[in-house]
Amino acid sequence: MDEHLIATINKLQDALAPLGGGSQSPIDLPQITVVGSQSSGKSSVLENIVGRDFLPRGTGIVTRRPLVLQLINRRSQQTPAEQKKSDAVRDQLLDLNLNDEDQKQKQKGGDEPQHGQSEDNTEEWGEFLHLPGKKFFNFDDIRQEIVKETDKVTGANSGISPVPINLRIYSPYVLTLTLVDLPGLTKVPVGDQPPDIEKQIKDMLLKYIAKPNAIILSVNAANTDLANSDGLKLAREVDPEGTRTIGVLTKVDLMDQGTDVIDILAGRVIPLRYGYIPVINRGQKDIERKKTIRQALEDERRFFENHPSYGSKAHYCGTPYLAKKLNSILLHHIRQTLPEIRNKIEMTLKKYQQELYSLGPETMDSASSIVLSMITDFSNEYAGILDGEARELSSQEL
Ligand code: GDP
Ligand code: NA
Ligand code: MG
Repeated sequence: MDEHLIATINKLQDALAPLGGGSQSPIDLPQITVVGSQSSGKSSVLENIVGRDFLPRGTGIVTRRPLVLQLINRRSQQTPAEQKKSDAVRDQLLDLNLNDEDQKQKQKGGDEPQHGQSEDNTEEWGEFLHLPGKKFFNFDDIRQEIVKETDKVTGANSGISPVPINLRIYSPYVLTLTLVDLPGLTKVPVGDQPPDIEKQIKDMLLKYIAKPNAIILSVNAANTDLANSDGLKLAREVDPEGTRTIGVLTKVDLMDQGTDVIDILAGRVIPLRYGYIPVINRGQKDIERKKTIRQALEDERRFFENHPSYGSKAHYCGTPYLAKKLNSILLHHIRQTLPEIRNKIEMTLKKYQQELYSLGPETMDSASSIVLSMITDFSNEYAGILDGEARELSSQEL
């Protein structure tokens, strides 16, 4: 039921993309949106959640277009034998976010990363909305396609664009989530950036996080002052009560010795309803040395378990805990907003129907009528889910 609910939301997102997609979508679908200063570690956090290397990351402005990333757990599409195999990996994943590639490597006892391996790995793949039907089994190719698509629209010299790239990752190892990676907040223009770059990025982020259906993942480097966090300031502008903002503290490994984030975690600095989760991503050196995600997650776990400040709360630290928490927040949020989403779908449907009728019968073959029929299908499916939800609720009440 839960997976089905999120899967339908994902399909709707795709169906609505031709109508303006992303931030322009007429219907606000629940999704998790990442905000923070440039190089605070936003893309690194997303990559660790997915458990695969596929996002452009690094110092400077690397993410220059929004990336709408749908993670789809495809366990239900597997044969029982495949499920059994996946379950074994998944059990480990829940503790360590271990993925298949790393698993194979571990069996071989190799430490070298194996990028672009796996002729036989057909379990996980990516698909871009702008390249329908093309499956990317090689995650390095996914990264290259993101870079290529970014440069195509923004030029190669640090320009930015609000036009989103839509990517789906199908895998038996991911939790079903929709995430949006966004350019980081910055103040000083570089390269081809306009003089008002700060305002342009701010406006772009606001478009995504102002929607009541956005869950804001506020990423802050632990070695910078939280009180000066531009991302958190922006989040508080649109979510003053902090009821849909969750904090992530990155670079805990880079903090000065003897300092920690305990005061922040305890809600004594800037409290958030969902709190903060400290994580450790790979540093620039780790990236250059091609440290695997598996190794990074193992190091992260060890760091928190052995640290005098975090040892007793290590269970509430790190990337695997963040992924689980995000999934449950997203589900909770979708349930709360179901009635409102249904109303909006019905209103949108009516609006497009009227527009089509006014254009005459010959346009019924046009692309817009295809979109219309897709929306109709999905809203029917959605209504079914809503009825199911209602039944579930009433049977609970009995
Ligand atoms: P973004 O601009 O917010 O998307 O940040 P990136 O994910 O591109 O990361 C910026 C730089 O910070 C990269 O060189 C990362 O390797 C590094 N980085 C991110 N998170 C951490 C962390 O937790 N610890 C360390 N040591 N470096 C990190
Ligand atoms: Na960066
Ligand atoms: Mg980034």
